[in-house]
Amino acid sequence: RNVAVVLAGGSGQRIGLATPKQLLKIAGKTILEHTLTIFEHAPGVDEVLVMMNPGFVGDAEAIVKKAGLSKVTRVLPGGTSRNATTQLALDALGHLPAETTNVLFHDAVRPMLSQRVVADCLTALETYGAVDVAIPSSDTIIEVDEDVITDVPTRSRLRRGQTPQAFRLATIRDAYAKAWNDPDFQATDDCTVVLRYSPDVPIHVVAGEEQNMKVTQPVDIFIADKLFQLSSAGTPEFTDEDYTARLSGATVVVFGGS
Ligand code: CTP
Repeated sequence: RNVAVVLAGGSGQRIGLATPKQLLKIAGKTILEHTLTIFEHAPGVDEVLVMMNPGFVGDAEAIVKKAGLSKVTRVLPGGTSRNATTQLALDALGHLPAETTNVLFHDAVRPMLSQRVVADCLTALETYGAVDVAIPSSDTIIEVDEDVITDVPTRSRLRRGQTPQAFRLATIRDAYAKAWNDPDFQATDDCTVVLRYSPDVPIHVVAGEEQNMKVTQPVDIFIADKLFQLSSAGTPEFTDEDYTARLSGATVVVFGGS
């Protein structure tokens, strides 16, 4: 059984509005609804669990009901950190068999995830206990201490981590159980928990996509809105090839063109 957990427990402080960013509307629908619709249409996903900011559980339930999202079984309150929200989701899935259940954790605020990436994650779980999604970095990544560079890791070996992060339930349960025993436990994602606390489990990396962006800063709302405008009706499927095709179309002015 494959369960998608949509992590929507945050409050979007970097966007800075009173409403959490997952409830902002892009192209006529909330970001949360866009994201849930992707899993609703994913053939390999059996069930969707929504972990919502505790003050907005009723809003998420209303969205699920109005959109008729039949795979969403529960909307539950999230925790005080992303990892705490993941743990609450694992608790809620406590009744499921560890060996035959897979779980995909996805940021609610990545509403342009493609079906290709979801399918690749599920396929990878046939071989691996843990799967991450990542893309190469266009920018050079530097490491700093305050505002002084301490290292510039080789760019070709760096990736930017996205979501979903997908696991066999046994793998992620085990890693989290060990993590909470560590008083210094700190992470911002779930693969880090497996890497640190179950180091024998190889974490496979599936190729992500630029457009699987995390709506994080105010400017991201405008970028995401524009990308949804470019997409056709229904659940958008964005691929790098689509964008290349558009570049050779009429909308881009090329120097020297008539
Ligand atoms: N998230 C969560 N529970 C938390 C914190 C975050 O489920 N306690 C979710 C967010 O809702 C989001 C995803 O984790 O979908 C990625 O986190 P981030 O982009 O950092 O979201 P926020 O915490 O809402 O943003 P900010 O850090 O700007 O407040």
